[in-house]
Amino acid sequence: MSHTAKVTAATSIIALGAACSALAQEVNIYTTREPGLTQPILEAFTEETGTTVNTVFLQDGLVERVRAEGESSPADILMTVDFGALIDLVDAGLTQPASSETLETAIPEALRDPDGNWFALSGRARIVYAARDLDIDSITYEDLASEEWRDRLCIRSGQHPYNTALFASYIAHHGEEAGEEWLAGLKANQARPAAGGDRDGARDIAAGICDIAVGNSYYVGRMKSGGGGPEQVGWADEIKVIVPTFEDGGTHVNITGAGVAAHSPNREEAVALLEYLVSDDAQKLYAQANFEHPITATAEPHPIVASFGEIVPDTVALNEILPHRTTASEIVDRLNFDTFEN
Ligand SMILES: [Fe+2]
Repeated sequence: MSHTAKVTAATSIIALGAACSALAQEVNIYTTREPGLTQPILEAFTEETGTTVNTVFLQDGLVERVRAEGESSPADILMTVDFGALIDLVDAGLTQPASSETLETAIPEALRDPDGNWFALSGRARIVYAARDLDIDSITYEDLASEEWRDRLCIRSGQHPYNTALFASYIAHHGEEAGEEWLAGLKANQARPAAGGDRDGARDIAAGICDIAVGNSYYVGRMKSGGGGPEQVGWADEIKVIVPTFEDGGTHVNITGAGVAAHSPNREEAVALLEYLVSDDAQKLYAQANFEHPITATAEPHPIVASFGEIVPDTVALNEILPHRTTASEIVDRLNFDTFEN
């Protein structure tokens, strides 16, 4: 799309204003989400509305890209797979408030910005994978640091956003000092360097390297369903899922979410697409495709996910943990969390 074409398109929509409620020909999503997971839903949206959805997949550098494009950015929707990444976009002024009764009705209050800059689209719990035959059926996040698990824990890098959010959540519950003590305990419990992905925790449990691992809920679905190949089905067979909670709260649930881009040329279509994404049909499709937790009360999770039992999201809301992200990251550095020293 040329620069001129973009400006013309934006101008014509403003000129048409409220007189024309028909949706435009296209809407553009910039996303850090693997396109394969959203494609079937976006195609269903196109079929229903006639609006084509163009997806720009960016593994890294979403903030930089949108900022560099400035006012001429064709992005209508910015979508991320981590709450922190979503808030980074909001903080950089790259989103705009959107208000919609449909969005406000479908998405619980704690899972959207009161100003409408971001909306959760699905949930992902940070859970524990345990060796299948391990004599354990419950655990708290606090327990993960206990001596019982010395040299028995697998976890990915302490600087990975999934862990940053969990660690920040711990600090929100217990304070910085207790947070550092807990992370030192987690480090002492490592059975190998904090590295790789969450699925490697299951792999290493299967290989007898560790007995418990911290990982996101949807990976269990991806492994068990065969989506990751036969080898991963084997890893999944060797683990069972324990849904941890904080001693004084619930389970840490991160989100995938989206907001309307600050300079969206197709704002109306962007909101229409967000509304579609929280409809029961889309939420169900989404949950089946990616093994995440639907954010609407009425959409059902995938049977594999349902088999984990009820997950009660933590009492500390996501926006309350944000200020602690930097502290969490600094402690991880200070402790050399990722370096294996046991
Ligand atoms: Fe992931």
